[in-house]
Amino acid sequence: MNKISIIGAGNVGALCAQRIADRGYADIVLLDIVEGLAEGKGLDILESLPVSGLDTRIIGTSKYQETAASDVVVITSGVARKPGMTRDDLLLTNMKIVSEVTRKVLSHSLDPVIIVATNPVDAMTYLVRHISGLSRNRVFGLSGVLDTSRLRSFIAEELNVSVEDVFACILGQHGDAAVVIPRLTTVHAIPITRLLAGDIVDRLVERSIKGGAEIVGLLKTGSASFAPSAAIAHMVDAVVLDKKQILPCSTCLEGEYGLRDTAIGVPVKLGRDGIEQVVELDLTDDERETLAASANVVREMV
Ligand code: 2OP
Repeated sequence: MNKISIIGAGNVGALCAQRIADRGYADIVLLDIVEGLAEGKGLDILESLPVSGLDTRIIGTSKYQETAASDVVVITSGVARKPGMTRDDLLLTNMKIVSEVTRKVLSHSLDPVIIVATNPVDAMTYLVRHISGLSRNRVFGLSGVLDTSRLRSFIAEELNVSVEDVFACILGQHGDAAVVIPRLTTVHAIPITRLLAGDIVDRLVERSIKGGAEIVGLLKTGSASFAPSAAIAHMVDAVVLDKKQILPCSTCLEGEYGLRDTAIGVPVKLGRDGIEQVVELDLTDDERETLAASANVVREMV
């Protein structure tokens, strides 16, 4: 049976555990350093499974040895944003937390696939790859799957179409320097630039890029967790089910798109081994330039 360890039992981590437990394809460890937090939420999820008719094994713990021999590790630990903060403001605090988490995970699991959700996620993805020494194909971050889900929901609402017919293309930093490609964002293969006026496209794009901040502003004391956890579970599906699915994830680039020494969102084929291929889209010169600028923002942080 696959073993998945989720580090951090805050809202994102706990919802990830519940969503993945409901898939029934893995044993789950939910870990948090706060005594009782992961134990309580893990037990609560376990007690929900008979209702769903699932025999998933899940435990909550504060001990890293329980994560031993994980196939997939999801890192959600860290401080979330407060209203008015950008993800980048979390860099120094979260780099310490994520460095420690990575070292402890790797002392119990030799070669896991690691999905990073802690913000600023691009810099944290680069950090985890660096600290872990794993191949870049084993470490990637929550980025475009979340951002494109937001844009898809806004487009579907605006055009009164099914979200299943909406495809969105977002590359680059998971943040204000995200690169949305409207000509490759479509409703059943029709570019949204043919379906919506320019100012409406701009409004939906802006709202998607600021999607996390909009929710932080509304919640005041927390950040998004339902959409991030759904996006992470979707990425885990692609790995555990060996789907060979192409998803936009924060990835350490090694020359792709002419970029290296940075991590940004690009389309990657995900399967059992993690990133099996980095997909290089045919971008215009302008798009490549914008992507390079986005990569620079992350390189600064790195
Ligand atoms: C978001 O965009 C947490 O970065 C995540 O909500």
